[in-house]
Amino acid sequence: MDRIRIVGGVPLNGSIRISGAKNAALKLMAASLLTDQTLTLSNLPHLADITTLIHLLQEHGVAVVMNGAEGDEGHVGRVLSLKAADIASTTAPYDIVRKMRASILVLGPLVARCGTARVSLPGGCAIGPRPVDLHLQGLEALGAEITLADGYVDASAPRGLTGATVRFPFVSVGATENLLMAATLAKGETVLENAAREPEVADLAHCLQAMGADIGGIGTDRLVIQGKPALHGADYRVMPDRIEIGTYAAAAGITGGTLELQGAEAEHLGAVIEVMERAGLEIAETGTAAKPALTVSRPGKVIGTDVTTQPYPGFPTDMQAQIMALMSVADGASTIVETIFENRYMHVPELIRMGADITVSGSTAVVRGVPALKGAPVMATDLRASVSLVLAGLVAEGETLISRVYHLDRGYERIEDKLAACGARIERLKG
Ligand code: UD1
Repeated sequence: MDRIRIVGGVPLNGSIRISGAKNAALKLMAASLLTDQTLTLSNLPHLADITTLIHLLQEHGVAVVMNGAEGDEGHVGRVLSLKAADIASTTAPYDIVRKMRASILVLGPLVARCGTARVSLPGGCAIGPRPVDLHLQGLEALGAEITLADGYVDASAPRGLTGATVRFPFVSVGATENLLMAATLAKGETVLENAAREPEVADLAHCLQAMGADIGGIGTDRLVIQGKPALHGADYRVMPDRIEIGTYAAAAGITGGTLELQGAEAEHLGAVIEVMERAGLEIAETGTAAKPALTVSRPGKVIGTDVTTQPYPGFPTDMQAQIMALMSVADGASTIVETIFENRYMHVPELIRMGADITVSGSTAVVRGVPALKGAPVMATDLRASVSLVLAGLVAEGETLISRVYHLDRGYERIEDKLAACGARIERLKG
């Protein structure tokens, strides 16, 4: 298993090209199951999770063709064509689904198009129990019959799905997306209330519109979908990864350097920018309309700042670990409250090994800033936890050796190359 070695203490300076959003790309790829025509997606990030979903879609009979790549120097977004002319199998097997929880996103499209689907219950990041009950209840409301047996979800709607009003008891990104896709092929009108407003949901809705779907209320918590008998092919470009933007902004902040994040827009980062500015970072829009960019620097000290994770437009849970790394070297204390996931503090013991002063009680972490972190051998436990260890390693004195970096590879494209190009002493140790 690969490891990453970092020798900290270098302020990062330079430019980083932001990749396409993993959490948008995965849903857009699943949407290819809704039509027998070709869906061509550009600006796809090169990540292990994307490869996992390609394998799953191929299992269902989707012809996946890499049409090469587009982009400028130092960054190449991939272009993928996906054509689900015939669905060869409606079963999503455990061996693939266990690698990535987002695999559950094939359930809605398959049952909507084929009237049947069998999907293994998902695995993915080890952050809390993470059930899929909202996905299943929503599909039942659209007329699917759901049974659970042998670790699989069986969904059946032999006469097709029928539109209905679904009110989610709390916000779920994945359940909103699964139901949104299913509703595009259901008979009549579906209303999704208390829907997730995450920008990745809007990206999916816009792609579905390009495929012929009729969707109102995009970007709000009430989506209204008029079902269509069929969707058609489309070309669609994946949005930039707002979590990658936030992560590299934190890298500039924690090391005290200046990074230009090419392709980054402030639009979807309101809460993150607000917290980072309170923490002493400066974030400026420095690009043009055609070539957007954000430049991030830290003129003074990192200032202890309280953060509570919330559904969008609140502060994203996927940035909680990174902000905690930043707060661990702040002047003063901060309180971090995680409201979305249970058990999303697995980075805490590792940060403590590096000298951080963090106390967790339930969903609240109190971080007392220390003057310096010290490099140590640490273990990645999930995607965002592992990148927080990279951030800590960048500022720590001496050597940090991170094991189990396959978690990082699920969500960060060429992270060691991007950081090394800005001066970080970081390398991947193979094996
Ligand atoms: C997506 C993102 C993930 C992000 C999360 C919240 C992808 C691939 N992943 O995950 O990176 O951290 O949104 O922004 O896009 N829940 C239930 N029952 C359900 C569904 C969810 O109880 O049926 C709970 C979850 O356990 C969690 C909360 O609802 O506590 C929110 O989860 P959800 O928004 O569904 O996250 P994902 O879509 O899995």
